[in-house]
Amino acid sequence: MSDHTVRLLKTADEHRAAWNLFRSALHVKAGSDEEWERVADALQAPGSRRFGAYDPELIGTVYAFDAETVVPGGARVPLAAVTGVGVRAGRTRRGVLSSMMTAQLQDFAERGVTLATLHASEGVIYGRYGYGVATLSRDLTVDRHRARLRAHVPAGGEVNVFGLEQAAIQWPDLYAATSPTRAGTMTRPPYYWPPHENYLRRESSPIETAVHRGQDGVDGFAVYHVNRDAGRQKMTVLQLQYTNPAAFAGLWRFLLSVDLVDEISAIARPLDEPAELLFTDPRAVKVTGVEDELWLRVVDVPAALTARTYAPAEPVVLEVRDPHLPANDGCYRVGADGAERSDSEPALRLDAASLAMLYFGAWRASDLAGTGRIEVLDAAAPAHVDTLFGTRRASWCGTFF
Ligand SMILES: CC(C)(COP(=O)(O)OP(=O)(O)OC[C@H]1O[C@@H](n2cnc3c(N)ncnc32)[C@H](O)[C@@H]1OP(=O)(O)O)[C@@H](O)C(=O)NCCC(=O)NCCS
Repeated sequence: MSDHTVRLLKTADEHRAAWNLFRSALHVKAGSDEEWERVADALQAPGSRRFGAYDPELIGTVYAFDAETVVPGGARVPLAAVTGVGVRAGRTRRGVLSSMMTAQLQDFAERGVTLATLHASEGVIYGRYGYGVATLSRDLTVDRHRARLRAHVPAGGEVNVFGLEQAAIQWPDLYAATSPTRAGTMTRPPYYWPPHENYLRRESSPIETAVHRGQDGVDGFAVYHVNRDAGRQKMTVLQLQYTNPAAFAGLWRFLLSVDLVDEISAIARPLDEPAELLFTDPRAVKVTGVEDELWLRVVDVPAALTARTYAPAEPVVLEVRDPHLPANDGCYRVGADGAERSDSEPALRLDAASLAMLYFGAWRASDLAGTGRIEVLDAAAPAHVDTLFGTRRASWCGTFF
């Protein structure tokens, strides 16, 4: 362990140093004045909080911004979106991240955050802090020369394309108009956008935004760029948001029409999005990867269990053990009629990371039990929990932060 202290950052200089430390941890060069000016207000806005670790110099940082996320059943709960996690090279593996995570979780609990989520650079980092893989996504590649839309695929509406400067001012409204209602999706508050814009501006090829209008106005958009450096000319679809099947089909129809493209790669799509069903030859779509998308930390277990709905099945009592946030410790009865604290004997015992893996329905309790992740005290319980926590649609976030 190293001798360091952790505290919330206050001044602009502290924020900028931490912002650059994170970039350096990801092997990205320090931000220019222009990049900093774009994000400075957002990173210091109320709703944005950054911790730093000092020894006495800054050696590590974690950041989070407040938003809301949709839980199964459609309710929205307070969310902390964690990002900007980095420890200075030469100071790693001495417990710096652990002390920052402890401070950040405490801060979330004190501020009434229900859930915290993040996208992990590596799979071994966050489980120890009670985060678990809570949504999965798939990457697709469509062979543009092979892909023919089936005859009855909806025609879709009108599409207009905007370059980055024009699109950036429209993104908040576009997302608000098209944000999906799936469990796992989140709001994108004003302070989300400037760092996102900086991130997109790092691409060497132009970022384009295709906006789809249906009969009732804007109902979808796609953000993409085309890389012509590689032998095959590749379009990468970074975002694809839509509110109805016609907009989904209309956006794909447009993407396939863009010239000088050999393949279209759509990244981090929902597991159950029916891209293959658009084409005469479903093998025009290749799944190039299925990955963990969102890692979830249930910060307030009673609030989180109460907020979501459950499918009809026998009620089950779960015992949660959470050394990082002991206020969560205890037994909870979960049934189709809701969830509440309980004094009854538990049927399953699990830690915070396993609860996170169940929460959005990405994993079955039977599988967590079968792989030794949760303790089974009543053999019938895993099957009941499979049904209770199952979701009709795959949960998915779709927002990269
Ligand atoms: C990931 C990172 C923040 C970890 O910071 P750290 O201060 O080294 O973490 P800690 O020392 O507190 O680690 C706590 C435990 O996690 C393990 N751990 C942390 N990061 C790990 C990694 N990348 N690979 C393997 N184990 C890791 C440590 O070995 C330690 O295990 P132990 O308790 O059994 O000894 C740091 O390595 C980093 O900045 N990496 C590059 C940037 C990055 O990936 N950021 C995350 C973006 S999502």
